Order: sequence, then structure tokens, then C-alpha cells
Amino acid sequence: MLQRPRRNRKSEVIRQMVQETHLSAANFIFPLFIVDGNNIKTEVLSMPGIYRYSVDNLLREIESCMNLGLKAFDLFPNIDEQLKDKFATESHRENSLYLRAISEVKRHFPEACVVTDVAMDPYSSDGHDGLVENGEILNDATLEILGKMALAHARAGADIIAPSDMMDGRVGYIREVLDDNGFSEVSIMSYSAKYASAFYGPFRDALGSAPKFGDKKTYQMNPANQREALIEARLDESEGADFLMVKPALAYLDVIKLIKDDTELPVAAYNVSGEYAMIKAAVKNGWLNEQRAITEVLMSIRRAGATSILTYHAKEVLENKWL
Ligand code: PBG
Repeated sequence: MLQRPRRNRKSEVIRQMVQETHLSAANFIFPLFIVDGNNIKTEVLSMPGIYRYSVDNLLREIESCMNLGLKAFDLFPNIDEQLKDKFATESHRENSLYLRAISEVKRHFPEACVVTDVAMDPYSSDGHDGLVENGEILNDATLEILGKMALAHARAGADIIAPSDMMDGRVGYIREVLDDNGFSEVSIMSYSAKYASAFYGPFRDALGSAPKFGDKKTYQMNPANQREALIEARLDESEGADFLMVKPALAYLDVIKLIKDDTELPVAAYNVSGEYAMIKAAVKNGWLNEQRAITEVLMSIRRAGATSILTYHAKEVLENKWL
């Protein structure tokens, strides 16, 4: 035998020497849930180890992450039902919870990278990512609201705006609004291929943002489709996106790879709430080794081609020195 691949696996030093994919704190973006009030830290039932924080505790949490080298955060608000309306007005109201959170984080931690989520669903009384009229999700009317939201985030100090709604033309629209208002340095990380997935369930529990009727299939993608992801990714690139994201990650590793091979832009992947909950549930039952399962999953997302991983595991991986 001329080739004996096992030779390159014979010791730890050689295994590390030939390791093709690496994972580090720089690859992570940590999603954090925020809620109005003071001194609140409430665990999300379906996401053990993940909490909703009031802004004061959010700052403490971010400080402890920064000390671990985890410096990029994606914020998601849990909004009081009474503040929701059809137009998601709360999403761009001055001094709202979300805008305060962005500016407080940037004031205390100027070197932190704050990613903000642009979509109507946490603020919409319909629980949808777009403006609803007679049961239909309007595309172009939604863009105007997304533009206002993105601009408010930029004014509050957002480093990266992440539109997660899957309306057509939103990246170009938001890019223009930002540029016209002097925010040409604010980046856009587009949820390019976001699927209508079962794996968002725990997130919707965390935010109370489940749709009040119907589903999201007229805007989020059909899990059966791969080529359509390329249409979305190419459009976002041509409209000025700085990052292309695939979501969820695990059931869509092929899509991450496909988009990676088709673009020079960095590709991000969102290891979503249901993927997190699945592992935690199995670990709790003693069915999986936690460290090995989590690091294998994260490594596989990197191997598929993601540069950045949005993952609820980010902090525990660093805290426990699992890398
Ligand atoms: C919606 C949004 C969702 C997530 C992030 N932004 C879910 C949805 O489409 O309902 C899900 C994230 C996760 O499950 O971790 N704008």
C-alpha cells in the first residue's frame, strides 16, 4: 500500500498538523435576548443556559463575554404585547428598548461589534416579518419600515445591520437609506437564504414572536430548494451586502457550501435556537457528550464554509475552554 491515510492520524501532534478547519472566538457572533425592566435575567425554558436580559444585565453579560474574547453580539428584543402594532412602530421609536440597548452597549464597549436584527416580527401585532393586508404580506410597503428601522439602528451605533425578513429588494433599499443618511460605513449582513424552518420554535418562545396566523412560507424559503439560494445570494451581493448568511445551519450545510463556492464575500451561518435546544435536550438525558457534540457541530459549520457562526453555544464553548 502506497497510501496509508492512517499515518496522518497516528499522534495528536500530527493530527493537529494536518487539521484543515479551525474554530476560534473570532468566528462567533453571540445572539442575546433583551427585555424591558431592571435587573432581569430570565431563562428561556426551551433554551437552557440562554436568558432574556434587561439592559443593565445585558451590559454585565457582554462584559463577561468580552473578557473571554467574544466580541460580536446580535441583539433580539422581547417586546411587550401592548407595544406591538401592524406597522411595527416600536421598531424605530426614539428611546425604545432596542435602540437604548444598542447605544448603551456601544457606549460601554466601543470595541464590541453590535449586529442588529432588522425585521418586523418582534414588534408586529401580526407576528409577521412584513406588513399584512388582507392576510397578505406586502413586500414594497415593508421595505419602507425596514429602512426606518435600519436607519434608527445605525443612528444608535450599530456596526452591522442584519435584515432577517426575506422581503425582495431589502438589501438594496437599506443600503441606499444608510448611504443617503451618512452611514456608508455601516455593514449589511444579509440573511440571504433563510428557510421556513421548524427549528425557530424556541426563538419564537424567547421573543413571543410567533405568527398570529398562517406561516412564513410566502417569504422564507422552501427547505426543499438549493438552487433558489443562489438566486437570493447573488441578488444580495449585487445589492451591496457585505456578508451572506444561511439559516438554519445544520440542516443546510450543503447550502452554505454552495453559496461559499459562488461568492468571494464572507459567508455566515445561523446555528438556530432549535439546533441548540436539540443538543441541550439530548445532553440532559445523558444521550450525548456535550462538549464533543457542540464542538463537532460548530466545526462542521466552519468546514462547510461559514466564516462567522451565529450560535447560542458561543459563550459556553469559550468559558469551558472546549476549543
Ligand atoms: C425573524 C427571525 C427568526 C430568527 C431570527 N430572526 C425566526 C423567524 O423567522 O421566526 C430565528 C433565530 C433562531 O431560531 O435562533 N426575523
